[in-house]
Amino acid sequence: MNFRVSIDIAPTAAEAAIRVSARIAEHISIAAMSPRPCRLGLATGSTPEPVYCDLAGRVARGELSMASVATFNLDEYVGLAKDHPQSYHTYMHRQLFDHVDIDLSQTHLPRGDAVDPEQEAKRYEQAIAAAGDMSCQLLGIGRNGHIGFNEPGSEPDSLTRVVQLTEDTIRANARFFDDIDDVPRQAITVGIGTILRSQHIILLATGESKASAVAAAIDGPVTKGHPASFLQTHPKVTFVLDRAAAGLLRD
Ligand code: F6R
Repeated sequence: MNFRVSIDIAPTAAEAAIRVSARIAEHISIAAMSPRPCRLGLATGSTPEPVYCDLAGRVARGELSMASVATFNLDEYVGLAKDHPQSYHTYMHRQLFDHVDIDLSQTHLPRGDAVDPEQEAKRYEQAIAAAGDMSCQLLGIGRNGHIGFNEPGSEPDSLTRVVQLTEDTIRANARFFDDIDDVPRQAITVGIGTILRSQHIILLATGESKASAVAAAIDGPVTKGHPASFLQTHPKVTFVLDRAAAGLLRD
């Protein structure tokens, strides 16, 4: 077991998501009392959906306000307009933004349909830096160890940029599209260096299919062959796992 990262193992995936939501809600509430507003880095995909549902429930019950929160998503597919059904912009509205009291002008995603995606990536990196980097960054993990769309081979000091998605990631994400040929081959992703500038990082992983990626991230060597392993170099990372995702960790 790696003692440099903090690990929280929940009995079920549902409980792991509630624990992540509780951590984010606490972070938002503490930041609301400080002069610097909360900058929340957000992930998409299946894993965080129950987190967003739980956060929306807290807001609906009046236990939490997201009115002062600024959000920056990790990534967006190149070529998809904001209103494309599979864009991460649409995903964020469906999963979270349409159900909470967030100021939509403070929600940020890269523009997938930008005329010049490289320039858009630079603009997005600058916007993150200008906001003061993320005070709390939520991550998922790909089966190949990717974080954001930083695929194996990504450098630890990489910044927001245009990347080619691997075949594994394209296959994994094909479930959201009618046809695998519709899955974009490129994305704009926040870099590993950008992620590592966050004050606190929370990685949520659930299910047996993530167990080997989680074990390599926590117990394996720090290597660009497994981008999530760079999280071992960050001073404040919490892995929130269910038992299945924690199943291959060393004791
Ligand atoms: C998406 C993202 C990706 C996902 C990863 C896991 O914004 O950052 O790194 O977190 O692909 O996706 P799921 O949760 O669908 O298994």
